[in-house]
Amino acid sequence: NKIEKGKYKYFMLKEVYEQSKTISDTLRGRLLIPEKIICIDGIESHKEIFVNAESITIVACGTSWHASLIGEYLLEELTRIRVEVEYASEFRYRNPVIGKKNIIIVISQSGETADTLAALKLAKKKGAFVFGICNVVGSTIARSVDAGAYTHAGPEISVASTKAFTAQITVLVLLALIIGKYRYAIDDNRYKFLCEELGAIPEKVNYVLKMNDTIKKISQLYHNVNNFIYLGRGINFPVALEGALKLKEISYIHAEGYPAAEMKHGPIALIDENMPVVIIATKKGCYDKIIGNIQEIKARKGKVIAIVNKGDIQVNLLADHVIEIPNTDEILSPLITVIPLQLFAYQIAFSRGKNVDQPRNLAKSVTVE
Ligand code: G6P
Repeated sequence: NKIEKGKYKYFMLKEVYEQSKTISDTLRGRLLIPEKIICIDGIESHKEIFVNAESITIVACGTSWHASLIGEYLLEELTRIRVEVEYASEFRYRNPVIGKKNIIIVISQSGETADTLAALKLAKKKGAFVFGICNVVGSTIARSVDAGAYTHAGPEISVASTKAFTAQITVLVLLALIIGKYRYAIDDNRYKFLCEELGAIPEKVNYVLKMNDTIKKISQLYHNVNNFIYLGRGINFPVALEGALKLKEISYIHAEGYPAAEMKHGPIALIDENMPVVIIATKKGCYDKIIGNIQEIKARKGKVIAIVNKGDIQVNLLADHVIEIPNTDEILSPLITVIPLQLFAYQIAFSRGKNVDQPRNLAKSVTVE
């Protein structure tokens, strides 16, 4: 079937708006909410391997690499297995120390990225068990892994990845919960609570999408700047990286993502009245420290665009602009916090008149090394 943009000007916006559905689709048949049961065939049939794993290394490129970093927080927190994240292109050239007791998770929307495929082959050669998270069914990577779980994001047309990213995080949450349960690493009440909260994510995503008009208004004040800084902490640090990447990819504005606490080790030197800073300042995750960071930015006359929880008071008083999003457990928050950053990048690129779906020099899938 021909894929249509419908009422949307660009596929990217359509795909951003599909995320409530694509997260639901990725959960369907895997998260049974009333029973609080998670089933993923590729994990169940290899239960012993996951229970006994010494470490997990997640390997990917681009946006999938950012999902991998979120996976590191999720898997370490809920399974207590040590997790490393590698760029596929680096992993394969440094003789990694892995073997039978190590699990490699490869993440790829297209399932065709050459560096990720080469990393997978190397991991297999060294005897590691390779688990794949791909979106394209029957893709080369999906066919080459020992086991895997598909994301059900549907075809992603826009070069800048959005719905595939949230679907990847959704699968990673499911993996972390199921492996954590197998290993008795997660408290039963917390497990049940997270299952329920995960089930509520799609409707919260819909709520965030309603912020699009607010985000558009803010973007109109900033589409002429040359630089942006994105800050986040903990599991939202990779979200800051992803927000910066989205902006770079489609608007050609230079943007850097940083862990908020690292600001004092460099980026703070860049802050003046011309520097906008997008900061993820949701209630959990070192909220007080984030407030401190915002004060430091304001003291240097930087502009602060903050992602906050509904009803936030403290950040509201300090920031130039706030975008309010629903509350959820911190560990699930990337599924919500990334949405306003996707919309923001879109609105900025759109007001700069860029071809959002086909940014210059970028390809949807990089099948050369
Ligand atoms: C390219 C795309 C990115 C994507 C990356 C990894 O750079 O432009 O959007 O994140 O490849 O692709 P994959 O298909 O392996 O997830």
